[in-house]
Amino acid sequence: MDLVIEGRAYIKGKLVQCCIGVENGRIRSIKKLLGGDEHLDFGDMLILPAAIDPHVHFRDPGLTKKEDFQTGTISAAYGGVSCVLDMPNTVPPTLTPRSLEDKAATVSKKAWVDYGLIGGCSARADPAAMSEKVIAYKLFMSSTTGNLLVTDDDATAKIVTSIAGTGKVLCVHAEDQKLIKTAQEANLNEHEKIRPSSAEASAIARLSDIQGAGRVHLCHLSSKEGLAAAEKLQFTKEVAPHHLLLDKHSKLGTYGKVNPPLRGKGDRESIFEAFRTGRIDILASDHAPHTIEEKEQEFADAPSGMPGVETSLPLMLALVKKDRVPLEVLVRMACERPAEIFGINKGKIEVGRDADLIVVDGTSMRGIAAKDLHSKCGWTAFENWDAIFPRVTFVRGMKIVEEGGLVGERIGRDVVARKR
Ligand code: DOR
Ligand code: ZN
Repeated sequence: MDLVIEGRAYIKGKLVQCCIGVENGRIRSIKKLLGGDEHLDFGDMLILPAAIDPHVHFRDPGLTKKEDFQTGTISAAYGGVSCVLDMPNTVPPTLTPRSLEDKAATVSKKAWVDYGLIGGCSARADPAAMSEKVIAYKLFMSSTTGNLLVTDDDATAKIVTSIAGTGKVLCVHAEDQKLIKTAQEANLNEHEKIRPSSAEASAIARLSDIQGAGRVHLCHLSSKEGLAAAEKLQFTKEVAPHHLLLDKHSKLGTYGKVNPPLRGKGDRESIFEAFRTGRIDILASDHAPHTIEEKEQEFADAPSGMPGVETSLPLMLALVKKDRVPLEVLVRMACERPAEIFGINKGKIEVGRDADLIVVDGTSMRGIAAKDLHSKCGWTAFENWDAIFPRVTFVRGMKIVEEGGLVGERIGRDVVARKR
């Protein structure tokens, strides 16, 4: 065995003191005692599967003053995330086989954790042409950062059924553009009024009307109404930490401006309750960094989105410690379900899976500070929030982060290319 990692590991829903044997980056054996070339004993610290974050915007290519694939993936590793799925609203957008190949070539040299690339959809491009190289697709039903919006019902139906034919998941930003108002906005309350919950519910209803829709995944559910619409359907559901923990009354100004918007306390509590009780499939950060300079503009001009890939899991581990979220729910939504839904050989401590693991010391809670984070954007909406950052993050058996430092090598690779 190349490597043995010992500790209190989360296996089949239970924490058990054991040794995890790793060979060629995969879990080879799990036993009470194992010998290996290298033996790392973490005592009674937790060994959990590293998280998969299936919703990040790493801005590469084209918007690299906000983030690039190197800073984004380093940030991910510090947050206990060993695999990210990157969204297509870059410059140029990832809409054609050519743009996808160019992006793949650029990011492959910069990745510290594994990744999959998500293809974009537009009324003009043929998404199915990219199907072999993308892990999933993204459809924006409303305007937000970038210019990938599709509003027309016929075009939407054509895209949805064409993607159903590829067998890949279609991730949807479900806000109905027709219900989004163009009025002036000067604060979070007004931003939410302009993009009401009814827009979320209506977009979901429109999708459900499309005959032959395949594997639809609803991104970042933000409202009670949207959740109720989603719960009637077979679609998989995702939530983001900012909709679980922040609302439009949080004193964040433009830094809290996101799409879909932060809503009221009632919406936040409904989403949180669904999350806590395991009625959501996936926790995803929707890491959408913008520079401080951009966020310091007038409210109406500031872009929407906030960083989160580094803080998502640590915030939730702190809630597990405080008994507000069960560990099994967190592992299911941050690791197991993303692996299942997107077909990634990670997310579980099980023989044959990639040895993507994190080591967690439950006693190491501390306040989040932007100055300690690694995204290029340099700010967080969660300043001073309690978090438990992993002590170590392994990607395929290689230590990438250890005790607050970057170690190991830049081995990140495309999980789709690897399967071919
Ligand atoms: O707030 C958002 N920011 N929502 C999105 O849908 C896109 C994202 C971004 O890319 O900035
Ligand atoms: Zn997003």
